[in-house]
Amino acid sequence: MLREPTRPGAPLWLLAELTYRCPLHCAFCYNPVDYARHGAELDTDTWIEVISAARKLGAAQIGFSGGEPLQRDDLEMLVEHARAIGFYTNLITSGIGLNAARIERLKLAGLDHIQLSLQDSTRELNDFVTSTRTFALKQEAARLIKAHGYPMVLNCVLHRYNLPHVAQIIEMALDLGADYLELANTQYYGWAMLNRDQLMPTAEQLVEAEETVNRYRERIGGRCKILFVVPDYFERRPKACMNGWGSVFLGVAPDGAALPCHAARSLPGLVLPNVRDMPISQIWYESDAFNAFRGHAWMREPCRDCDERHTDHGGCRCQAWMLTGDPAAADPVCEKSPHHEQVVQTVQFARQPGKVEERPLIFRSRENSLAR
Ligand code: FES
Repeated sequence: MLREPTRPGAPLWLLAELTYRCPLHCAFCYNPVDYARHGAELDTDTWIEVISAARKLGAAQIGFSGGEPLQRDDLEMLVEHARAIGFYTNLITSGIGLNAARIERLKLAGLDHIQLSLQDSTRELNDFVTSTRTFALKQEAARLIKAHGYPMVLNCVLHRYNLPHVAQIIEMALDLGADYLELANTQYYGWAMLNRDQLMPTAEQLVEAEETVNRYRERIGGRCKILFVVPDYFERRPKACMNGWGSVFLGVAPDGAALPCHAARSLPGLVLPNVRDMPISQIWYESDAFNAFRGHAWMREPCRDCDERHTDHGGCRCQAWMLTGDPAAADPVCEKSPHHEQVVQTVQFARQPGKVEERPLIFRSRENSLAR
């Protein structure tokens, strides 16, 4: 019989969200919708301390993300420090701001891995969903990454607008020399939640896209590994979000708020500790926020007695909050949840005239954020 752990293990993964600044305005951005209201960014010295403390705690992988991490002039310095103390270093970027000089400096600093996001195979849709003209810049970033000997790891967020282009997106990735392509259907947090009814695909679109992916997998074999991530709303069981709250993931927001998950800022009543005020090890092991949903003692029915609670950990707390108003409820994606019907209806009503409000996409921007 499984027992509750007495003390959590160390975090494995530090996500350093260096900045909320971003040249793009994606309608599916997972950053908080009120990001413009958060405080000043941590300075270089504080980030160095945070990175050192997380490594000391046991974290082995670091992701530099944002916003767009290339907006920070000290990115190379932070990468160099993280690498020097033994982190495996990842840059998660839109590619905007990556030029020959910067990638050379990042390489010299010891950067191990780059994940580049692409939005579509067409200039029109790339530019529409990001509300920018960045298609050519992203292609150039991909070429630079390849030319500097990095594996080509591409990520494309899918939604109702680009799902019909999945074959062309794969072709584009192959042309760019992709070793790995993650086709991740939109998950509904942050700006994506604001635009959920506009971005939600139909079940037919998803089936078709997955069939296309499978055809390509057969055709190209090991040349490029393609991952296809189905949106939660189309599942019957929840994902093990963050692999369990406070179990492996430690995020730090640009203003120093420590995050047990990407979307933790949206949870009501959760006082997030700040790395400016509390040591990282205390944040990880002792803070109320990181202990709030650790283990299984916080669970209600139907999770509490569910055989699968050790596998899915009750699903996603943020999704539970957004869809039920209770962050300790079962994730409504689970068909055992009394709120599951809401998820089913959201999917069924997608794009049905009269069932959802027709309105334009709300793009991530400072003005729109300040208006939240
Ligand atoms: Fe917060 Fe899933 S995103 S628990």
